[in-house]
Amino acid sequence: MDVNIITEPGVKLSQQVAEAAEWLQTRDPRTFDLGVVLGTGLGSLVDEMTDTQRISYGDIPHFPHSTVKFHAGQLVLGRLEGKTLFAMQGRFHGYEGHALQAVTLPIRVMHRLGMRTLILTNAAGGIRPQLTPGSIALITDHLNLMGSSPLTGPYEETLGTRFPDMSEPYSRRLRALALRIALDLGIPLHESVYAAVIGPSYETEAEINMLQVLGADTVGMSVVPETLVARQLDMEVLGLTAVTDQALPGAMRPLSHEEVNRMAAELGPRFRRLLRAIIKTL
Ligand code: HPA
Repeated sequence: MDVNIITEPGVKLSQQVAEAAEWLQTRDPRTFDLGVVLGTGLGSLVDEMTDTQRISYGDIPHFPHSTVKFHAGQLVLGRLEGKTLFAMQGRFHGYEGHALQAVTLPIRVMHRLGMRTLILTNAAGGIRPQLTPGSIALITDHLNLMGSSPLTGPYEETLGTRFPDMSEPYSRRLRALALRIALDLGIPLHESVYAAVIGPSYETEAEINMLQVLGADTVGMSVVPETLVARQLDMEVLGLTAVTDQALPGAMRPLSHEEVNRMAAELGPRFRRLLRAIIKTL
């Protein structure tokens, strides 16, 4: 897979963004307060939304198709906690074979539709002793170990700056807000550096060792491409991780996608309570 190749030769990325946004606007002319990406096992937040309109990704011009089991693969537009949400139930991943430019197309569409705040959620493995399965962690920073970036490719001014700053990828303001809300709710919220790998295999013991040395606290296969694009467009990003499993050198255990899903479902109610309170306060 060459993740540097844009999926639709001959169609500029800016044109894909404009056409997808335009199409969505005709389907639902509302303005949206924020974009939310719901990761593995976390999609049921959409069942708590009202005034919803559900749109399959496959129906949206230029959107890739989501292939992962347990990812519903639909856009849910609707209301929650007094806000109008553009919620992605399931996301696209590089390991599905999509170019990272395609994986992150929805983020550009959100920006084009006027959204300036983005909440990214995901399931990840904890690689520190305190990050046990069931923990929830705020992403404070990341390591892009995917071997590429969605920001590569032909440059167009409407995509944002060519060389985006990454001194504060995850908004300090939103992190402070999330920590305060978690404290109020009595929900423990860790802070973590997230390492993004391409996957889809889970990590070897040597890789976990490496990631620890590099300063990572969690590891997963998403979030970072979306953050890079959002920051290129100067959107404010909040990253929330559901720690679904733990990998520690000397204590490696077999891991499956089913286990990741099971734990995500188990911590789901607590995760959604926190997420809703954050959305309410925004
Ligand atoms: N590694 C990578 N990705 C993941 C993991 C993991 O342990 N858990 C959930 N997504």
